[in-house]
Amino acid sequence: MEMCFYFYIVCCFLILFSKVSTAIDTISLSESLTDGTTLVSNDGSFALGFFSPGTSNNRYLGIWYHSKPIQTVVWVANRINPINDSTGVLKIESSGRIVLQIRNTAVWSTDTTASVENPVLQLLDSGNLVVRNGNDGNPENYLWQSFDYPSDTMLPGMKIGVDLRTGFARRLSAWKNWDDPSPGDLTYGVELEGIPQMGLRKGLQKYSLSGLWIGNGFSGIRNVRSNPIYDYQFVWNEDEVYYIFSLKNKSVMSRVVLNQTESVRKRYTLKADTRTWMLFSIRPSDNCDKYIVCGPNGNCDNNELPVCQCLTGFRPRWPERWNSSDYSGGCIHSKPLNCQRGDAFITISKVRSPDITNPWVNKTMNIKECRAQCLRKCSCMAYANLNFTCVMWSGNLVDIKQFQSDSDGMDLYIRVPASESELKKKAKVKLSIIVATVIAALLGFLSVVCYIRRSRRKSKGESEDKNVYNKENKDEEEDLELAVFGFRTIAQATDTFSFRNKLGQGGFGSVYKGTLANGQEIAVKRLSKSSGQGLNEFKTEVKLIAKLQHRNLVKLLGCCIHGDERMLVYEYMPNRSLDSFIFDQTKSKVLTWSKRFRIICGIARGLLYLHQDSRLRIIHRDLKSSNVLLDSEMNPKISDFGLARTFGGDQTEANTNTIVGTYGYMAPEYATDGLFSVKSDVFSFGIVLLEVISGRKNRGFYHTNISSNLIVHAWRLWTEGKPSDAADDFLVETGDLPELLRCIHISLLCVQQHPEERPSMSSVVLMLGSHNELPLPKQPGFLYYNKPFEADSSPGKEGSSSRNEISLSLLEAR
Ligand SMILES: *[C@@H]1O[C@H](CO)[C@@H](O)[C@H](O)[C@H]1NC(C)=O
Ligand SMILES: *[C@@H]1O[C@H](CO)[C@@H](O)[C@H](O)[C@H]1NC(C)=O
Ligand SMILES: *[C@@H]1O[C@H](CO)[C@@H](O)[C@H](O)[C@H]1NC(C)=O
Ligand SMILES: *[C@@H]1O[C@H](CO)[C@@H](O)[C@H](O)[C@H]1NC(C)=O
Ligand SMILES: *[C@@H]1O[C@H](CO)[C@@H](O)[C@H](O)[C@H]1NC(C)=O
Ligand SMILES: *[C@@H]1O[C@H](CO)[C@@H](O)[C@H](O)[C@H]1NC(C)=O
Repeated sequence: MEMCFYFYIVCCFLILFSKVSTAIDTISLSESLTDGTTLVSNDGSFALGFFSPGTSNNRYLGIWYHSKPIQTVVWVANRINPINDSTGVLKIESSGRIVLQIRNTAVWSTDTTASVENPVLQLLDSGNLVVRNGNDGNPENYLWQSFDYPSDTMLPGMKIGVDLRTGFARRLSAWKNWDDPSPGDLTYGVELEGIPQMGLRKGLQKYSLSGLWIGNGFSGIRNVRSNPIYDYQFVWNEDEVYYIFSLKNKSVMSRVVLNQTESVRKRYTLKADTRTWMLFSIRPSDNCDKYIVCGPNGNCDNNELPVCQCLTGFRPRWPERWNSSDYSGGCIHSKPLNCQRGDAFITISKVRSPDITNPWVNKTMNIKECRAQCLRKCSCMAYANLNFTCVMWSGNLVDIKQFQSDSDGMDLYIRVPASESELKKKAKVKLSIIVATVIAALLGFLSVVCYIRRSRRKSKGESEDKNVYNKENKDEEEDLELAVFGFRTIAQATDTFSFRNKLGQGGFGSVYKGTLANGQEIAVKRLSKSSGQGLNEFKTEVKLIAKLQHRNLVKLLGCCIHGDERMLVYEYMPNRSLDSFIFDQTKSKVLTWSKRFRIICGIARGLLYLHQDSRLRIIHRDLKSSNVLLDSEMNPKISDFGLARTFGGDQTEANTNTIVGTYGYMAPEYATDGLFSVKSDVFSFGIVLLEVISGRKNRGFYHTNISSNLIVHAWRLWTEGKPSDAADDFLVETGDLPELLRCIHISLLCVQQHPEERPSMSSVVLMLGSHNELPLPKQPGFLYYNKPFEADSSPGKEGSSSRNEISLSLLEAR
């Protein structure tokens, strides 16, 4: 009897309690969430609370589907810091920060947002946990949201992709296993190399790519547009690139989840009236979905035996090996190409696009122009036209998959030696010669006209220089929206370039601080007349720099042209440069580890933007601590693109006669052979990273002992198993040690001797942002460092530059 009574009481409590908890979807300042209680979204779809995964006894804070019989967790907060008892408490602070604590120690927390009057934590019906200002009229103004930090599950309305303005990436990462939600090495997100697409990675290796977006789906995924459950979109614009899906009918749910054990991405669906999740799709769905199964120029076809076929016009490079199922050698052209005498194209249909690393893209080109363009470029091996985006591939074509159904894949046009009748081809060649001659004549005529007009304008005098600049610009295809400052304005702002206002002197000119009439502070780079830059080159540079806009790049406000004089006007950075902090005994204490880590991430994102995301693709070539400026909030901004040289779409490496850069930051292959690439920038980034961690200048080590510069030192400590000794003691004592060690590890990966072994900046950004295992670094590239360094000696000044900066390299936009 008694038992029954107690049972009854307990039941009442439970019912009462569950009633209470369904009513609550928010926590405000004075409230908290303890283990055993849950927040439930308004419509009852999702719950937030503590749970133990699988057979584990650890407690995690997570979000799961509320009303489902089997707990399906979709998000975990403290993935890598489990709580081992039930004392966890979730709170929101007045700064808008969410903190998960045990006995007043934070286990997990979000970044501090700006101070908020009435911060509210709310679990939305979408499964998104958000922080917003309770007093803000717009409830969609999130200060923080869990959708920005996905775990292993993608929900409707979630964007998986990259914010191109900030470089912020949202990627899924699998749970290690059923019992452990910490991130495994299987991740899913946008691949930014070339044209964006979606892809799975295992560690840093590509594992399965979606192929290019072809308007109604991805070329590498069977078209499921007409499915009754969900709709999807891939968005790529100037600001962001992401994949998103939405439910067609709210009564059928759908989610995408990664599974580390099986190395797959699965989509499940659940009808309201059923109790179990049904598998809807799985990727990779067959062997051909895996990355590069068939080697170069192979075509993976699951309906053929063997699955690997050579593309039409190609034959196996090594027939014996090919016959014994070793496809790694791939295929080569059956007959050699002959670019001069004219090649032809054949169409292969229903295929997944080849992977793109060095694409050439034109967003407003029809298929005919695209074909002509590809034919002219001897390195162009294939082209495709996706809704007026012309895409061309150079080099080997890899990762192609053959589909069977007409609704899948896309058309790809592959370059082959012309096999049609010689006559036909000759006629074509003749015709194209005639056309080319006519075009050349026209162009010549036009340029003469332009030249005459230009010199007439020039002779009208300087007073009109502003107008000339604008008018000429209008002739060009892209209108440059850039302020052109009058010389008088600049002279006034800088007190006629007074010595007091001088911030620095470099090989290419001086930098002055100025204050405009409206009070805005500016930095003026007055290029020396000896820089040899003509008006056109200057304009190219200005246009180039103006196009580069990123949170972690110094912003170009405008320019000024006065006779021979050329000036660039930048935003002014009150905190000067990174080296003025990290190498200064007292000021260095301002930069705590968390601030330094933020700075490192910022530099990495800025550089990634230069390398990949900006439309121009730029190698900086002179990245160093003194070229990283800090704004009033200590946000890093990379400066000095005066040395950057853009490189064409299919050119990632170049050889240069004029070495610009600063010894001590230069990669060995660049310092000795003048070979620069994105990977030489990665090397410089590695040095900057080491400097930020150690608080020491690379040169400093060199001068005291020839054989022990900063890299040698760090490498030695690494091999001796005490890498943390490379860091500033003050950081080791006060900072996040695992994060610090991770950064040392990453810096050593960046300064490896062989450029191809160094990670790309996109990998570096991934490494900084995740906890996945890193590869072991190989021997760093310090062996070539056997000439005295001449690192710059004027610290902390915008535009300061070393004597090694021989010249201002010419800039070419694509
Ligand atoms: C739980 O973790 C704390 C430190 O976080 C430790 O002191 C304690 O011994 C652990 N308890 C158990 C049961 O493992
Ligand atoms: C991955 O899939 C396996 C096999 O279906 C399953 O046992 C395991 O629980 C899954 N892992 C996760 C983290 O869901
Ligand atoms: C093609 O491009 C246009 C303009 O860029 C866009 O509006 C349209 O939606 C695109 N069509 C497809 C099928 O992607
Ligand atoms: C959604 O699905 C339910 C149940 O299958 C159906 O009754 C309803 O009509 C559907 N709603 C729409 C808008 O299609
Ligand atoms: C490979 O196999 C094909 C078809 O079975 C055969 O014709 C060819 O001779 C084989 N080549 C070599 C090198 O074994
Ligand atoms: C793209 O193609 C169009 C048409 O041929 C051409 O006018 C334009 O200059 C090209 N744009 C780029 C960036 O090459």
